[in-house]
Amino acid sequence: MRAHPRPRLFSPLRLSAYLIGLGFLVVAAFSSPPFLGGEITLGPVVGGVTDSQGIVFVRLSEPGPVGVLYSTDSYFRRDVHRSVEVQAEEGHDLTAQIPLTGLEPATTYTYRVLAGLGPRGILNPYRFTTAPPPNSLHDFDFAVFSDLSLVNVAALAYASAGAFSPAFVMQIGDFDHSNPGIIPPPVTIENWRWMHRRVLGDSASGQDFAKFVASTTPFYHIWDDHDYGANNADRTAPWKDMATQAFLEYFPLPARPNPAGGLWYSFRYAQAEIFVLDLRSERDPDDAPQGPEKSMLGDDQKAWLLDGLLASTARWKFIISSSGWNLRGKPTDSWALFSDEQSEIVQFVRDRGISGVVVLSGDLHSGGGIDDGTNAYFPELSVPATNIHQQRDCTGGECGTWSEGILTGIDPSGFALIRVRHDKTSGADRLLLQTRGEDGSLRLEYLVELP
Ligand SMILES: [Fe+2]
Repeated sequence: MRAHPRPRLFSPLRLSAYLIGLGFLVVAAFSSPPFLGGEITLGPVVGGVTDSQGIVFVRLSEPGPVGVLYSTDSYFRRDVHRSVEVQAEEGHDLTAQIPLTGLEPATTYTYRVLAGLGPRGILNPYRFTTAPPPNSLHDFDFAVFSDLSLVNVAALAYASAGAFSPAFVMQIGDFDHSNPGIIPPPVTIENWRWMHRRVLGDSASGQDFAKFVASTTPFYHIWDDHDYGANNADRTAPWKDMATQAFLEYFPLPARPNPAGGLWYSFRYAQAEIFVLDLRSERDPDDAPQGPEKSMLGDDQKAWLLDGLLASTARWKFIISSSGWNLRGKPTDSWALFSDEQSEIVQFVRDRGISGVVVLSGDLHSGGGIDDGTNAYFPELSVPATNIHQQRDCTGGECGTWSEGILTGIDPSGFALIRVRHDKTSGADRLLLQTRGEDGSLRLEYLVELP
């Protein structure tokens, strides 16, 4: 048997490469006025990633400029780019979102944040990978989270999802249930900022998020009622503008179709397009009378969704719905109360022969559920709660009917794993919808094939 050579962590070759890289890094960082004033107190979080750009979010300890150095070379010996300088200002709670441009598709970048000398600062490298070009065909997984515990507990599911090396990670609502539109009074924007700092780093689950997701995996978020501000909240909430401002301060998003409107957006990853709906800021009150005018989306978002579905060249079109979609699912605070608008969307998709539509929904706090379309028009996966323990039933008391089942009465913590697979021989694509426990174990699985 051949003996394995002992790994040499500081071989002469490796050490010299490191020193050369460090030299390049110093030159690049200080070739124009350095900005190393504040320390990073939160982040980095990488988001808004496409095949050519991305955004790095950080929060600093004091006002000042911040930027990012990034390179395809992990030692920064070549191909070093320096972002524009962004100001972290008191008026935006010392947050900054730094755009990275001119990126190559499906390429891994190492980056360093030009801030502070502390443990998260310029001395610490991070890495993320850009998306492949739209319509290229790839095998990839992505992970989806929903509904975190109100109490301060860890979220082991982040680490378990990370073990699958997801192409990106989504959190589709109730990242926190602290109801910042109500608690604590008086209601100020600080309520939302405090909540965002918790989920991104200051709580036990936030620390897991920071460790296993934030800096390395492109991250996409949308709110549901409890992180928008209050239970079952809608467009009439008096604090809507505060909630919106704080969200935009803390979460890097792709370009929004209507920056003056709500938070909805879409993004592409290879043969998939993901339509992320904002089901709170435009929503009519749940108790408004049913009818063709009643809307969860609002006119502008609905037109964008329908146009986007029709125009999409993606094989898979994921609709992210923080509220339950299944018409035989939870009867309250769900699409069941907006059935006319839901029918309009379904009819539009059917009339125009749009294929590959799949719904990923949140809100139920279950161990995860899947429907093949029998009860939900399209295949739907209800995402498990992330770290809520000892939950014994779905929110609202009813899980509804799901063709592939829904798990409840068990510890529901977990996540959804969406696995896109392309068969090079046949040219066919298939999709595995999976719900997994917080340890990564498989719970439910359903195969979707294109017609
Ligand atoms: Fe929730």
